[in-house]
Amino acid sequence: MDNKNRGSFSGSIGFILTAIGSAVGLGNLWGFPYKMGANGGFPFLIIYLIFVVFCGVVVMALEMSIGRKTGKSPVLAMGEIGRQYRIVGWFSVLCPTIISGFYSVLIGYSVRYAWGFLLEIFGGNGFDGMGGGDFFGTYTADVTQVLIFTIITLVGCGIIVAGGISGGIEKFNKVGIPGLFVLLIVIIIYNFTLPGASQGLTYMFTSKGMEMAGTEFDFFNACRVAAGQMLFSCSLGMGIMITYGSYMKPEESISRNAWIIPAADTLAAIMAGLAIFPAVFAQGGTPNGGVGLLFITLHDTFTSMGSIGNIIGFLFYVLVIFAGVSSLISLMEVSSAHFIDSSEAKGKPVSRKKAVLAMTAIIFVLSVPVCLDMLGGSAITQLPLVSKIGCLLDTYDFFTEGLMMPLAAILMCLIVGWKKGPSWYEEEMEKCGNKIIGKSFFRVSIKYITPAMMTFVLISLALSYLGI
Ligand code: PFF
Repeated sequence: MDNKNRGSFSGSIGFILTAIGSAVGLGNLWGFPYKMGANGGFPFLIIYLIFVVFCGVVVMALEMSIGRKTGKSPVLAMGEIGRQYRIVGWFSVLCPTIISGFYSVLIGYSVRYAWGFLLEIFGGNGFDGMGGGDFFGTYTADVTQVLIFTIITLVGCGIIVAGGISGGIEKFNKVGIPGLFVLLIVIIIYNFTLPGASQGLTYMFTSKGMEMAGTEFDFFNACRVAAGQMLFSCSLGMGIMITYGSYMKPEESISRNAWIIPAADTLAAIMAGLAIFPAVFAQGGTPNGGVGLLFITLHDTFTSMGSIGNIIGFLFYVLVIFAGVSSLISLMEVSSAHFIDSSEAKGKPVSRKKAVLAMTAIIFVLSVPVCLDMLGGSAITQLPLVSKIGCLLDTYDFFTEGLMMPLAAILMCLIVGWKKGPSWYEEEMEKCGNKIIGKSFFRVSIKYITPAMMTFVLISLALSYLGI
């Protein structure tokens, strides 16, 4: 812990906002609202909340305990529990690196869209006179432009991460996260002034949403979708909370944070739905999810609002950038922290700046094929493994969200819950006189409920990605 390149959070608010910043991201904006409507509305929310409580809260507390107790990034932290467990730590370093390879491209898209709406506000031609679908098709096929916006994103995030924990990451989140919630509220209030906006509520909260999305209720599918979404959305199973936990002060309550962060993440996901679907329906759009929702449907929605739409559109993409950047910097921090810690352990310390530079370069290399693939429009998608899964972005997502994240979460529960036993993490959670909120709940969940639920998730996610 005496490594000067590591740093720490300055206080609880900084830590909580930073962890919420990691959790609230593109997953909340383009994933949750659509999935909720298309998979049953309110019943889906209940299923989602069950996964949040029994898996999200539990794995989050576990990861923070592992991080703070060892004071190390994932590989070294798991290695301290037992040399043979380093592999679990490796998943946690590989996973964020791979995710960053597509996440940075998507934030780059948002930077382009924010820029486009800004130009439109001042009377310019931000989208070459094209509508949602046409512009998106043209933009994604313009690999040079996509690469430029990806580089802008990576350099911006690299600068924040290089600034350190309290001087860079925490500073950004202290402004960015309250800013994100304010923007959400402004957009929601505006949305509710639009005629026809209530259809958005009908879509998200009632079973009519399935009719509107053309889907039918399937309990197991809803569980699978909710679980995958929860893991990605809460930033679990990929070492983020181990790494952030390693910078956490001993007097912080781990259990309190483990309840607050997933709750705030879920609130942001619901608010995102209220900021998106009322407007989509008010403008006569149809519900969809993923990239299509974020960059085609919403572009058309804002354009059809007239000149106010340019301002709302600009604010919305700035919101996406805040949400995306606060998540991407957490992903980049994991791999950079690994570099810093492992070089220190080998007696050849590397400065934070150098570690971040190296990781940014590696992430850029991973993002280039995603840009070249044009979301499935290139020969890369025809490669045997990729074509089975979808496009290259889906393939990156499959290996991380579909395999490594649930596997890492299960193994952590088994290693700590069974091998080490409850006293190992309880001691950490009770440090400085803190009480564990839900002590017996954590005991039973870590040992039995969470690994069982996560095994279900692992099997069903893997099968669904492979179309089985
Ligand atoms: N939780 C973020 C989202 O919902 O978009 C994505 C993310 C961030 C995933 C950090 C994983 C991660 F480690």
